[in-house]
Amino acid sequence: MKPLLIAIDGPAASGKGTLAKRLAAHFKLPHLDSGLLYRAVAWAAAHTSRTPEEAAAALEAADLDNPALRTDEAGQAASKVAAIPQVRANLLKFQKEFAHQASGAVLDGRDIGTVICPDAPVKIFVTASLEARVERRYQELRERGADTIKPRVLAEMAERDRRDSERAASPLKAAPDAYHLDTSDMDADAAFAAALAFISSKG
Ligand code: C5P
Repeated sequence: MKPLLIAIDGPAASGKGTLAKRLAAHFKLPHLDSGLLYRAVAWAAAHTSRTPEEAAAALEAADLDNPALRTDEAGQAASKVAAIPQVRANLLKFQKEFAHQASGAVLDGRDIGTVICPDAPVKIFVTASLEARVERRYQELRERGADTIKPRVLAEMAERDRRDSERAASPLKAAPDAYHLDTSDMDADAAFAAALAFISSKG
C-alpha cells in the first residue's frame, strides 16, 4: 500500500491543527504542525543574534516544544517572518522530507497542499467564519488564563488573515483539488468524521 500523505491548510483557529492531530493518531502517522517552524524562526530572531533567514536555515537548533511559541504574539510574529521569501525557502527541504518519509505523514499549515506537497493524494482546506474562529480563540485564551477582550482577538485575527492571504510568497490558498471543510457549525468530532468520510471516498 502507498504511504498516506495528508495535506491540511487553513487560517488560524479554523480547526486544522486539531483535525491534523486526530487524523495522525487515527492513521498512526507522524504529524508536522508547520506553523511551529515559523513561530520558532520568529522567536529565534527576537531572542538571538540570528536574522530570520539564518534562524530558518538553522532549524535543527529550534526547540519546537518551547511553550512560548504557542502564544498569540508568537503567531503574529510568525506571520511577519513567514512573508520573507528566503525564510520560506530555507524551511522547504525539511518540510518536503517530512512529507515524503516512508511512513507517510500529516502536515498542516498554509501552503502544504499548494507548495510543500502538491502531490498529496488527500488535501483538505479547513475554513470557518471569522466570527466562529474569533469565538474559539477567545475561549481558548480565556481557558489559558489570558487577559483579553473579543474585539482585540478579532482585530488581530483579521490582520493575520490579511497578511497570510495577501503576501506574495506562498499565500494562504486552497489547492485546486482540495476538499473544502467549513467547520463554522461543527465541533471537532464532526470535522473529524467529515474528513474521514472524504479520505475513505478517495479509496
Ligand atoms: O498555524 P499557526 O498559527 O501556528 O501559524 C503561524 C503563522 O505562520 C501563520 O500566521 C502564517 O503566517 C505562518 N505559516 C505559513 N505557512 C505555513 C504555516 C504557517 O506561512 N505552512
